[in-house]
Amino acid sequence: MNRLFFRFFVLVMLSITGATFVIYFVFARLFGDPLDDIARRQASAQIFLLEQYVDQAPADEWLGRLNKVREVSEAQFDLVPLDQVRKTLPGRDLPALERGAIVLDPANKTFYRRVDLKGERYIGSEGEAIRASQLPIDLGQALLMEVVRYVVVALALLVPIALWSRQHWRALQALSDVADEFGAGRLAARATLRRTDAVYPLAERFNAMAGRIQGLLEAQKTLLHSVSHELRTPIARLEFALELLADRTDDPALAKRIAAMEGDVAELEELVNELLSMSKLDNAQEAQRALFEVEPLLQECADGLHPRPPRFGLELGAHLGSIDGDRRLLGRAIGNLLRNAQKYAAGQVELHARRDGYQLEIAVEDDGPGIPDEDRERIFEPFFRLDRSRDRATGGFGLGLSIARKAVALHGGTLVVEPSALGGARFVIRVPDGVVAA
Ligand SMILES: Nc1ncnc2c1ncn2[C@@H]1O[C@H](COP(=O)(O)OP(=O)(O)OP(=O)(O)O)[C@@H](O)[C@H]1O
Ligand SMILES: [Mg+2]
Repeated sequence: MNRLFFRFFVLVMLSITGATFVIYFVFARLFGDPLDDIARRQASAQIFLLEQYVDQAPADEWLGRLNKVREVSEAQFDLVPLDQVRKTLPGRDLPALERGAIVLDPANKTFYRRVDLKGERYIGSEGEAIRASQLPIDLGQALLMEVVRYVVVALALLVPIALWSRQHWRALQALSDVADEFGAGRLAARATLRRTDAVYPLAERFNAMAGRIQGLLEAQKTLLHSVSHELRTPIARLEFALELLADRTDDPALAKRIAAMEGDVAELEELVNELLSMSKLDNAQEAQRALFEVEPLLQECADGLHPRPPRFGLELGAHLGSIDGDRRLLGRAIGNLLRNAQKYAAGQVELHARRDGYQLEIAVEDDGPGIPDEDRERIFEPFFRLDRSRDRATGGFGLGLSIARKAVALHGGTLVVEPSALGGARFVIRVPDGVVAA
């Protein structure tokens, strides 16, 4: 809210300031300097006296009237040589002075005027000028009034702009919340804005896009699930048939061949089972939630690791607490991380767990080759495996990490990989409070 409001307000104020200056310069060009105009108005009494009282006198009384004015006026009137005035005034004022007009010098609160052009008032009067100083000119006050006007306009604009930006900010915030929710995997999230909201068309498009993405993902999941499911029956039949065939043959070469085929079919079955469990994970309802303690689960995962790496470290912090979730799923995810670590480690694997503020952190690290920076996200994609020649020997389909990440996400947590201090990879599961009970 603050950002939108502040930027818009600054923009409006800058525009008003800009417009004020443009108006000033345009007026100065077209109608003369507005400040000069104000000064002339402030000195209008003295100008009036000079033009209407002193100048209206016959030539022989002119000086007398001027003297009378000098007595009564607060401004100081005196006669100065014209040449001196010509030197004092800037060049742009000289033509007006020569014409016999009143020339103002607001900064010095003074004006000048030639006594007359033809020397009619008294001898030598054409070579002299009247200087009226200490005039009641106060441009500071005029400028202060302008500033006050500016501030009042700014304050008056502040309220509508604040209301306007609050409304927009709320709508944008609502939209960005929905985008976050959708991005976090809740595909049913939709923006519910009012038709009158300025960003309503944007929300409508977002909802249409979200609908299409949800449809596509669901179709893909259904396809994966159905294909895996449909493959199970022919695989079971093949298994059965191969077993029958193996029983009936006496030919050792054929028996060897059949055994190899049985191995392939078993691998296929494993793949289908993995795919099925992955597609089930996309469905949050499949998780069997219950409250279970973290420490025994980690202990079981560690115990279930065969063969044990030469150096295996288990470090469990105090008060790991309990998780309200699916124990089997989380155990499988941790088990996969441990098996990966064992597969790729040079000799050392560590399993650490601790409570870090409001979350539970479980880390599995090893001293193996690690994961290159550019593949840190890709290894969580299904079937993605690094350096195929290396991995073929280690077996696996490249589904383990993708399944583990989905299982952790079902618990509202995250699974990321980072470099380990041991030299290899460090996989970290973080489960926030709310699913973790102390
Ligand atoms: N601890 C690790 N050190 C180095 N590379 C790793 C480590 N863990 C995973 N990887 C890389 O990430 C890839 C994906 O891992 P993932 O667990 O998804 O598949 P997998 O172990 O190859 O097969 P699966 O788990 O399906 O049997 C692995 O093939 C491997 O290249
Ligand atoms: Mg694996």
